[in-house]
Amino acid sequence: MTTKIAAAAGHWKLGGDLPVARMGFGAMRLPVRDAEGAPNERGDALAVLARAAELGIDHIDTAAFYHQGGLAANELIKEALHPYPDGLVIATKVGPGRRPGDRYPTYELEAGELRGEVERNLAELGVDRLDLVYLRVGGRAEPDGAPIGERFAVLAALREEGLIRRLGVSHVTAAQLAEAQRIAPVAAVQNRFDVTLPQDTGLMKTCERDSVAYVPYFPLGGFGLPDDERVAAVAARHEATAAQVLLAGLLALSPAILAIPGTSSLAHLEENAAAAGLVLTGEDMADLRR
Ligand SMILES: NC(=O)c1ccc[n+]([C@@H]2O[C@H](COP(=O)([O-])OP(=O)(O)OC[C@H]3O[C@@H](n4cnc5c(N)ncnc54)[C@H](OP(=O)(O)O)[C@@H]3O)[C@@H](O)[C@H]2O)c1
Repeated sequence: MTTKIAAAAGHWKLGGDLPVARMGFGAMRLPVRDAEGAPNERGDALAVLARAAELGIDHIDTAAFYHQGGLAANELIKEALHPYPDGLVIATKVGPGRRPGDRYPTYELEAGELRGEVERNLAELGVDRLDLVYLRVGGRAEPDGAPIGERFAVLAALREEGLIRRLGVSHVTAAQLAEAQRIAPVAAVQNRFDVTLPQDTGLMKTCERDSVAYVPYFPLGGFGLPDDERVAAVAARHEATAAQVLLAGLLALSPAILAIPGTSSLAHLEENAAAAGLVLTGEDMADLRR
């Protein structure tokens, strides 16, 4: 019997009424493990998605610009899971632009291009309404704080039209979050964070205060697990893996945090889902954040 081990860390209600298990899944690695590498095997990617659902993962993070060599995350999700099980929440992101031949997005879409990108996600995922759409702003460097109101207002209008259930913002500063919140309710923030980063947790605390989910991207470091002696020490104490400590550490940091680790490997998926049941102590957390 399969147990829904990913649900062990409990649930969060996006926007107050859309529940998701706090351990989710990031789909960016399904088409290709590393943007510079060869595409994955289609069958392997489909098997990872099917297994994720069995493990109790009901929050999948995707984007129309996650594709490589004929494999696209949205299309894989649809093939593996459509008709979608009740309660599955698929989050997507719009904002980045990717030209043919680019291996990843290289520019930002204008406000007038966002409706098309939302419609593309609707079609690729085979739904009439998207559960959660983030406006992803800025490039790959630190969030730049530039105004986002004009673009976020377009998504807010599409939500009013019924095409989107919940809105989020990604790669933002506290001021950009506040700007978005003045336009429409924000259910989630998706910024780069992992427990080993000495990054300010102020925005995370703001999210917690405002009942906004904080969804770290690159929760496992993004480019290979961080080689970190604090993580190794806590992992040894719990007979867990470093990846599990990174994920359990995130979940312990704030009740508003939702984990979306990415993987193209069934073994890593199982390992990551099991981290939902790893309970770290106050001492562990003090050591990790030292
Ligand atoms: N908003 C944004 O700007 C933004 C940017 C980047 C990503 N994202 C989202 O965030 C999600 C998570 O980020 P990510 O996937 O880029 O990075 P990540 O979760 O930090 O790390 C994924 C990498 O770690 C490896 N990995 C996964 N589980 C592992 C384990 N148990 N042990 C060892 N290695 C493991 C994966 O390789 P294997 O395939 O070999 O497991 C992959 O190379 C993405 O999937 C995407 O949905 C958003």
